[in-house]
Amino acid sequence: MMPSDSWSPQSWRTKPIQQAPSYPDAAALGEVERTLAGFPPLVFAGEARKLKRALAKVAAGDAFLLQGGDCAESFAEHSADNIRDFFRVFLQMAVVLTFAGASPVVKIGRIAGQFAKPRTNPTENVNGVELPIYRGDIVNDMEFTAKGRTPDPSRQLEAYRQSAATLNLLRAFAWGGYANLENAHRWMLGFVADSPQSERYAEVAGRLTQELDFMRAIGLDPEAHEQLSRTDFYTSHEALLLGFEQAMTRVDSTTGDYYATSGHMIWIGDRTRQFDHAHVEYCRGVKNPLGLKCGPSLKPADLLRLIDLLNPANEPGRLTLITRFGADKVGELLPALVRAVQREGRSIVWSCDPMHGNTISANGYKTRPFDRIMAEISAFFSVHRAEGTHAGGVHLEMTGKNVTECTGGAREITAGDLSSRYHTYCDPRLNAEQAIEVAFLVAELLKAERDHAKAG
Ligand code: PEP
Ligand code: CO
Repeated sequence: MMPSDSWSPQSWRTKPIQQAPSYPDAAALGEVERTLAGFPPLVFAGEARKLKRALAKVAAGDAFLLQGGDCAESFAEHSADNIRDFFRVFLQMAVVLTFAGASPVVKIGRIAGQFAKPRTNPTENVNGVELPIYRGDIVNDMEFTAKGRTPDPSRQLEAYRQSAATLNLLRAFAWGGYANLENAHRWMLGFVADSPQSERYAEVAGRLTQELDFMRAIGLDPEAHEQLSRTDFYTSHEALLLGFEQAMTRVDSTTGDYYATSGHMIWIGDRTRQFDHAHVEYCRGVKNPLGLKCGPSLKPADLLRLIDLLNPANEPGRLTLITRFGADKVGELLPALVRAVQREGRSIVWSCDPMHGNTISANGYKTRPFDRIMAEISAFFSVHRAEGTHAGGVHLEMTGKNVTECTGGAREITAGDLSSRYHTYCDPRLNAEQAIEVAFLVAELLKAERDHAKAG
């Protein structure tokens, strides 16, 4: 099979597909897709290439990937405050990783396009009434009514609008002064300020301020250095709704290559990674950096087959494997995948999603115990150290808000606390404090990785 000969933005349509919503009105869907195809791109090919170069450094062991955001963005919660609160927690995490972990950080949000959700069951039954499952705001409404749950193509236009507005604000934050490292102290949120993490963070920010003062004292102007006053922040989402992705696919005029312009990086979910199905078919043909979720059912031989399809030229930075086994399985399952990749000499960014393999149910809520999240990350680092590979990144579901969705952490959120601020549209997210706590743990692990490499 030489599938690359016949790729086109719509070639996925001839393949079997998982997780596709059934739209009752095909004509209306086609009309929306044509409209989207005429809209400007959300991101540019040159930006996607720049991200790929940054990820190539991660693959080489010279940088660390921080990827995170909502499980699912929602139309109802699209405020500047939400975006700012997320962004500043993300920046705090990046500062912790850069300073405590002494590593450059590649920053990618699960944001400005993370609207479509894969689900375990196609329908949901409430008191004997059966309706289609909620598949994310780009497809249907969470409200449990026949109207709400019917896939509505016009939602794709709203998702485009929201993504564009979110991206616009993120670009302003990243480039317009907010992300200036001089502001590191100011990024602390009110409710994080009296938390156990605040002292640790204040210490890091204090060191940073000293270093900037030192630069000035010896006659260097921090303002003159872009690296200090602005940051590169990229967007990503699961490329699940392929009609939308196809409509946002554009030919880059400088290279003639196809790019997904819905986000800088797109990934393939654990439920849609069949090598001969639609999602792999679409993703293999666009030149963006790609993610591939790797869950417990993925066999080493199947992974190699997917790598052949998704990164045939073995281009560094092209492919990030996002492993999500669960704290109890990672030690057993990850080594075989790492060895297969090493044996074949494949250039890979290894990232750890400690969220999706650690979901349990407590008091009627989906939750994730903080200890298990931490345990999966620690085990991920141990495996890579043992195999001689770089623990390249983490992929988190997190928010800048003070929610109670994951149990544990320094505040010891209990199962009984979950009901107080449980706001997620899909999976439970780390709150701001828990996210910063994770960053400190990862920073320690990164430092240990570096010390080990030096000693070895
Ligand atoms: C997700 O990242 O929200 C998700 C559904 O993950 P996975 O495909 O790994 O289950
Ligand atoms: Co999720």
